[in-house]
Amino acid sequence: MITSRCRTPVALAAAAVLTVACGGGGGGGGGGGGASGPPADQAALIVEGRKIFRFDTFGDEAHWTDTLRMHEVISTAVAPVTALAIGLKVDAEALPAAVAKGIKEGSVDLTSPDTTVALLKLDAVVGLKGTVQTVNGRDALTRVGVTCALCHSTVDNSFAPGIGKRLDGWPNRDLNVGAIIALSPAVDAAKKAVYLSWGKGKYDPRLNIDGLNKPVVIPPAYGLEGIHSITFTGDGTDIAYWNRYVAVTQMGGRGSFSEPRLNLSVTNGTEDLVTSKLPALQAYQLSLQAPSAPASSFDAAAAARGKVVFGGAGKCVTCHSGALFTDANTTLHLPIDSMAEPETPSYAFRSATKMYRSSPLKGAWQHPPYFHDGSAATLEDVAATYNTRRSLGLTPQEIADLAQYLKSQ
Ligand code: HEC
Ligand code: HEC
Repeated sequence: MITSRCRTPVALAAAAVLTVACGGGGGGGGGGGGASGPPADQAALIVEGRKIFRFDTFGDEAHWTDTLRMHEVISTAVAPVTALAIGLKVDAEALPAAVAKGIKEGSVDLTSPDTTVALLKLDAVVGLKGTVQTVNGRDALTRVGVTCALCHSTVDNSFAPGIGKRLDGWPNRDLNVGAIIALSPAVDAAKKAVYLSWGKGKYDPRLNIDGLNKPVVIPPAYGLEGIHSITFTGDGTDIAYWNRYVAVTQMGGRGSFSEPRLNLSVTNGTEDLVTSKLPALQAYQLSLQAPSAPASSFDAAAAARGKVVFGGAGKCVTCHSGALFTDANTTLHLPIDSMAEPETPSYAFRSATKMYRSSPLKGAWQHPPYFHDGSAATLEDVAATYNTRRSLGLTPQEIADLAQYLKSQ
């Protein structure tokens, strides 16, 4: 298992660091490191964090297995074709050569739930962690849980659509979390209707807290180094705050989260499987940089003109300032500054701050749709919406140029 993790290249940042650490022989972080490069401790922490991000459930099987009974429905009704159709991804690098060949040649049956169980046994389904045991001489899925990678990783489709190398930190905007939860035999019809209303790429991380229903788009978990205002509403000053929130209150991990501003205090179980993992998890996420835009994906000349609009007539830079394109470290904004507002219910009002953070824009090319509710389908829509709502008086050419600039970042 360790071998397969080390074989898996990290698509984004710190590839060299991880290679060094993996090549170092594994045993307790000794060896490797060396005088050049980041401190060995930090490199080891990042490797540990990647393992947690991809494979750790924090004991949330208590929720996904004992309560939602997802292991039953996966074993009987979720063939790989179904799993891929609801946006789950398969890590091609976890597939042994014979399985990969079988999938290519069609001898592996992608319409059988048994194949899904086999893929879970290989740790090949991104964000799902299964325990497969032999029951009556047959492989049976006895436990299943989810990891951070479920929503915040995708794959590069290099093997086939939905099957490829992991892209950690990239939001899975194909993933229909609501449709997945609605498969549970433990969810009643009324709740199913709510989950099925979300659609792909969205999730409501507050529904089970306040009972209101309005999902937000799954955001990237990359490009957050140096930003001390986490989530759309800037609820936390570091990633670990929100990681604990999600691990405990959303995934069902064993541990505690409390937030006086929301009058919220949740404890699952009697042991804490979350706290000790937060430093490594945070270190890994901070090592994930926003992916740069492919050169062929935008018009460079238009982007250069758009940069002038961004800093000038568009007034974008008043909020999206600095190298990270956000004033998040000093300012949060009233709901009215979000182009998705007014909305009912207001997402800001459901949060701890009741405000919005101006979104960091690095990597924006990669994750349409935009704004927390996904109401702008493209960056052209974003630019046009600002022009209208803020009465900027931009020409169609300036709007188009501004969109090209956003695409280039
Ligand atoms: C079921 C889907 C889902 C899972 C699983 C999930 N997240 Fe998220 N994550 C979201 C959504 C939706 C948001 C947006 C919430 C908000 O900003 O209010 C979010 C926000 C975040 C943010 C804030 C990003 C920013 O721009 O400030 C971070 C960091 C993050 N998640 C990390 C994690 C980690 C680490 C885990 C595992 C412990 C995890 N998430 C598990 C859906 C998920
Ligand atoms: C008054 C502050 C302010 C100004 C001025 C401003 N923005 Fe924003 N921007 C925000 C806030 C706040 C958000 C988050 C809104 C949300 O998610 O609902 C945001 C979100 C965005 C997003 C969505 C990013 C994502 O990941 O979904 C883009 C793109 C964007 N702004 C571009 C621009 C452009 C281009 C301009 C100039 C025309 C501009 N902004 C002007 C505050 C501002």
